[in-house]
Amino acid sequence: MRIILLGAPGSGKGTQARLIQDHFGIPQISTGDIFRKAIADGTPLGAEVEKYVSGGALVPDSLTIRLVRERLSHEDVRRGFVLDGFPRTIPQAKGIEEILAELGWELDAVVNIRVSEEVLVSRLALRRTCPACGMMYHMENRPPVSEGECDECKTALEVRADDSEDTVRKRLGVYLSQTTPLVEYFERTSRLVNIDGAGRVEEIFDNIRLELEERARGPGTSIDDKA
Ligand code: AP5
Repeated sequence: MRIILLGAPGSGKGTQARLIQDHFGIPQISTGDIFRKAIADGTPLGAEVEKYVSGGALVPDSLTIRLVRERLSHEDVRRGFVLDGFPRTIPQAKGIEEILAELGWELDAVVNIRVSEEVLVSRLALRRTCPACGMMYHMENRPPVSEGECDECKTALEVRADDSEDTVRKRLGVYLSQTTPLVEYFERTSRLVNIDGAGRVEEIFDNIRLELEERARGPGTSIDDKA
């Protein structure tokens, strides 16, 4: 399956992308995670993108599209992928369509996770992430078993550099102006699936899973056929 996850900062894209990855056995490709890792590792890419990411601005389209094109050339995406946080602009949406056309692949679904602004701000203020394995927690809704420590790999949890109140507001503004037009853009392809992102993580995932299974079945096909 080839899936795009759309949604505002804090809507739960990363949380749901991980569940989709585990359930459908397809890799999560998060442009945000790739940029943060490059920054943490001190690579040339990290140096180039740090000012955008830490300030809550978007990394330029040409660089981001190039990065995704390269990632989609890897062997592990042959059975599908879930793109988390890409595309985020109309040029990026055109970029992914072009890449897929070159590869002879089609998108199965564009999942748009919808959450109110009030909930988004509270989720990001209380988010903690594991810098080692990327696991995400929420201090009220999904706290780690041991305070301040990742359940999976026991690394000390961190507050993401771009989760300060000012930067969150900037990211939300960027989302509204540059990313929301993608909803209309993908509506025309009849691949768009709107999902209410306000419930429990597991309930939201069940709704996404049912929609994806329904689409993958299509007339006379199975999920395995389309994976
Ligand atoms: P990115 O990493 O993609 O960040 P984002 O889009 O701002 O989204 P977040 O990761 O903040 O939130 P999320 O929707 O994944 O929610 P999460 O699951 O974590 O991008 C970061 C930066 O990189 C950008 O600002 C930009 O600079 C750059 N960048 C990335 N992609 C780019 C692109 N394509 N083009 C240009 N620049 C790009 O959940 C949030 C919190 O809520 C967590 O604590 C979680 O535990 C909790 N939570 C999740 N679901 C629920 C639920 N149902 N109930 C209660 N709590 C929940």
